[in-house]
Amino acid sequence: MLSYLHGFHAGNFADVLKHLVSVQILNYLTDKPKPLFYLDTHAGSGGFALLKAQAQKTQEYQNGIGKLWEISEPLPAAVADYLEQVRQFNPQPELKRYPGSPWFAQSLLRDEDRASLFELHPKEFADCHKKFSKDRRFRIYQEDGFHACMAQLPPREKRGYVLMDPPYEVKQDYRTAVDTLIQAHKKFATGTYALWYPVVERSRIIQMEKRFIASGIRNIQRFELGIASDILPGMNASGMIVINPPWTLKSAMDDCLPFLANALGDRQGFYRSEQLVPE
Ligand SMILES: C[S@@+](CC[C@H](N)C(=O)[O-])C[C@H]1O[C@@H](n2cnc3c(N)ncnc32)[C@H](O)[C@@H]1O
Repeated sequence: MLSYLHGFHAGNFADVLKHLVSVQILNYLTDKPKPLFYLDTHAGSGGFALLKAQAQKTQEYQNGIGKLWEISEPLPAAVADYLEQVRQFNPQPELKRYPGSPWFAQSLLRDEDRASLFELHPKEFADCHKKFSKDRRFRIYQEDGFHACMAQLPPREKRGYVLMDPPYEVKQDYRTAVDTLIQAHKKFATGTYALWYPVVERSRIIQMEKRFIASGIRNIQRFELGIASDILPGMNASGMIVINPPWTLKSAMDDCLPFLANALGDRQGFYRSEQLVPE
């Protein structure tokens, strides 16, 4: 089933958390003078027009990047880093476009780095291919990112960041994502991995956590941002599970999550920042 289109959700509160964490990881990993490999298992189209039909229909971005764009007070450092990227994608003063996960990587990777993007949807793949195929550092594949990523690990650079951002339109994604990361970690134990998850049914997330904890993988952190209680219908929170995070990530998230919960949560916001499994 390939009915999910990220254009309806681009720039919402969940994208803010996902891309803010990704920017922190990329900033840290590209600070060392050694080549890095970036792998995006579910890349999407790479960029979204916020003033066109899909985003305008849901208006989800208004409660995400739309709110942050308007804030003039001093921002926590990680929020400022993320917003700097989104502003680079919008050279004009108004917010018109929102970058997809591969664009953040393209912006932050250096000449010596390399990226592989996987996207199955024919139209999203075509858009993604058009945007990134001229960049010699990038390879774009219309393949199942869960399955195909395994052949690329471990990377020859021996340093890598894998972002896994499935649509969860089939419930099996909750299980496949964890299985794939456990397998990937067996092949490449020192890589940094980030898995985005939506909180629609909390029990599914608790199951995922239990499976990571039981896997024997060490050094796992979790960051979650919610805008309303779990008992309300729909997706009111989402999170990132990060394996082998940069040592700087938790303090950066502790610093910015209270701000984000307040700015995007409208008095009902909440957050979690925790070490799921110690080093
Ligand atoms: C949440 S969106 C990705 C958004 C993107 N990571 C971003 O942050 O801009 C999930 C994408 O995965 C694609 N997709 C679904 N199943 C896939 C699979 N097995 N392998 C690769 N891509 C898949 C969908 O077409 C959709 O574009």
